Amino acid sequence: MTQGVAVVGLQWGDEGKARVVDVLSEECDDAVRFQGGSNAGHTVVANGRKHVFHLVPAGILHPQVRAYIGGGVVVDPFELKKEVEEIGRNVPNVKERIKVAAGCHLVMPYHRSLDTIYENLKGDERIGTTGRGIGPCYADKALRHGIRAADLLEVSALRQRLETVLPIENALLEKIGGLPPLRFQELMDSLLSIGDWLRPLIADVPDLLRSALDSGRRVLFEGAQSVLLDVDYGTYPYVTSSNSCLTGLFAGAGVHPGRVGEVWGVTKAYCTRVGSGPFITELNGPEGERLRKDGDEYGATTGRPRRCGWLDIPAIRYAAETSAVTAVALTKIDVLGDYDVIRVCTSYRNENHRVYYNAPWRLAAIEPVYREFPGWKRGLQGVRRREDLPSQALAFLHFIEEQLRLPVKMVTFGAAREQTLRLG
Ligand code: IMP
Repeated sequence: MTQGVAVVGLQWGDEGKARVVDVLSEECDDAVRFQGGSNAGHTVVANGRKHVFHLVPAGILHPQVRAYIGGGVVVDPFELKKEVEEIGRNVPNVKERIKVAAGCHLVMPYHRSLDTIYENLKGDERIGTTGRGIGPCYADKALRHGIRAADLLEVSALRQRLETVLPIENALLEKIGGLPPLRFQELMDSLLSIGDWLRPLIADVPDLLRSALDSGRRVLFEGAQSVLLDVDYGTYPYVTSSNSCLTGLFAGAGVHPGRVGEVWGVTKAYCTRVGSGPFITELNGPEGERLRKDGDEYGATTGRPRRCGWLDIPAIRYAAETSAVTAVALTKIDVLGDYDVIRVCTSYRNENHRVYYNAPWRLAAIEPVYREFPGWKRGLQGVRRREDLPSQALAFLHFIEEQLRLPVKMVTFGAAREQTLRLG
């Protein structure tokens, strides 16, 4: 394992990145989130217990790991406190092992309201946001209306900042959303009180990470969402508001690109998506319902049913190339075992123009061309080595490797840690 290892999603989120992070972080010293916010829902089942992470790096489950929230993450401090307390019920020294970058922008109560207001104004063009205030918070960062973790370190600076920002936010709430304005003193008091909790965690995270890497510690960078939800490279405008492909790591964690030597791309053996936007291999009707049921495809953050479809190799190849992926983790292969016919999209039929994944209207007319594989019709319990896999599952796996021109180095076939196969 190289010193800096990254994990990114190759679909539209929910690929099972946290499963992969959990396995890899066993060999790591530090775990880092670098973008996104509590829109993420990362689930790990460890020793029969389900843990759901939204902001805290999932690597924290391993007691040796120090966890960092990089400046590219937008942090709802109230959510973070709740999450740390929840995880702390079953995991030792959680608060003591987390540092939050001073540069993190804070998700404020008005961001959540504005998320809903903007979404409703879009009508049929709504994106299907998680409603966690992520877009408005990143927008304020770019507009320079943001409030950052660093502002909690100095009461007078916070007061001054809020005096500038709140009238702008209140104007939006009142004039666009028809909502009552937020009261300055109430918001200030709640920020001071959450500030008391957050202050000991605030640190110069880029500096700590540089020192960690210099001293030979192994650092795992945990991507949230995915390449196809990236604000620049995903299916814009049906995307999240951060750079959720590999490039987001360098600005979001504050480390040099040369420090990351290994990039794991995670994909399910089929595709899912929550929210609106193009999905070329989507299955509507009973076939999609069957995948949803068999794969238990409901969002970890919102509980929404996920849209389901077959594996889309061209889209995943694009995602892997965009993030310079060096190894693939293929998750949930167990879900497909019982199918008479498993389909994999290898190309697009009426592709008479260049495919731009970040121009969704050009994806609308595309039809998938499928290659068919038989299901393996047996459970995968007891599989410990590549050779234990049924020949049909191996053929499926080899085909994906060949198509992506990348090695599949991990396969998962269930939620438990032991339902993981490392392949080289
Ligand atoms: P937002 O990031 O909450 O603004 O949502 C924008 C789009 O990204 C919506 O389609 C969401 O469903 C999707 N999205 C955001 N975070 C995740 C995630 O962690 N998993 C899957 N989809 C996500």
